[in-house]
Amino acid sequence: MSYFENIKALPLKESPIIMGIETSCDETAVAIVKGGRQILSDVIISSATEHARFGGVVPEIASRGHTTAILEATKKALDDAKLKLQDIDAFAVTEGAGLLGALLVGVSFAKSLAFSTNKPLVPVSHIRGHIAASYLADTTLKPPFVTILASGGHTAIVAVDDYYKLNVLGSTIDDAVGEAFDKVARVLGLNYPGGPNVERLAKEGKNVVPLPKMLKNYVGGEYDFSYSGLKTAVINYVHTQEQKGLEVNKSDVANSFQHAAVDVLVEKAFMALKKTGYKTLAVSGGVGANGYLRDALVNAVRGKDIKLVIPEKRYCTDNGAMIAAEGYLQYKKGNFADLSLNAKAVVPLR
Ligand code: KG4
Ligand code: ZN
Repeated sequence: MSYFENIKALPLKESPIIMGIETSCDETAVAIVKGGRQILSDVIISSATEHARFGGVVPEIASRGHTTAILEATKKALDDAKLKLQDIDAFAVTEGAGLLGALLVGVSFAKSLAFSTNKPLVPVSHIRGHIAASYLADTTLKPPFVTILASGGHTAIVAVDDYYKLNVLGSTIDDAVGEAFDKVARVLGLNYPGGPNVERLAKEGKNVVPLPKMLKNYVGGEYDFSYSGLKTAVINYVHTQEQKGLEVNKSDVANSFQHAAVDVLVEKAFMALKKTGYKTLAVSGGVGANGYLRDALVNAVRGKDIKLVIPEKRYCTDNGAMIAAEGYLQYKKGNFADLSLNAKAVVPLR
């Protein structure tokens, strides 16, 4: 029997131990999760500092970082969980979206582990992984709920109707919110990764710089976003001030941008809660690590009959545990790949 015929014939386990492997960007992340909810180990080796001086992720450096870190991350994940490779029931791996060369390292590595142990290979969408991080944050969480998906590559308000059905109510028509944070950081002379640095600077500033608001129906549908306009407004403001020989108060720019970028996420999430009637709001993706957003959500649900699920910051940004958590859902459906699995730069949000 071929590898794949063998795999398809295996009985599914009730509470499988799944290794999640994530290499879509600059984090080499390997985690082990039991039954989709219990994190047994979680290792992240980041090459972020190597990209900092280039102002953004350099794909070649990211790929090289993964090839040198992946074995160490996997061994540590097994050691921390006090498990052997043979104890793993399935290998879940991010197949996309992301940097192709970076993804390929994880995909080939996961294939070799699955083949050599004769265990299923479970392809996982990075975005679904981000959303699944909420199942780890609140182990009692069940759909339906609304999630704010806010990462470096995606921005959307998603109704998670059930574990498998994502209803995208609206999304960005141009830049993602994390991308806007990173670009504004550059204009303000801050290092990559921009988000946390803009947040730090914003703490010292005030919301006084006039920036356009993303009003309802400002773009496409009422749940859509446009971050390109906001980013351009910030760039124009900084350049105009400089041309006039006026000082730019960078903390005020950071604070005002953060307000404009984040307030609209909260506002549209609440519109979505009202529309769907769902009573739980979650947040997913790297921008979910933003303290101002987290505080704004806590304030917004106060006195309302809405449950809030905010994963720890570590589980908002890229990690292996979220891939294992989504891998569990796919495992339960028997969504396994054969050894021809390839990495995908783009995966539709559905
Ligand atoms: O989800 P993620 O780790 O990777 C993608 O799938 O894109 O998100 C990375 C993005 C980056 O744009 C980064 O600047 C942003 O999340 N980010 C933040 C914060 N931490 C990370 N943005 C604002 N505030 C933060 N604290
Ligand atoms: Zn991500």
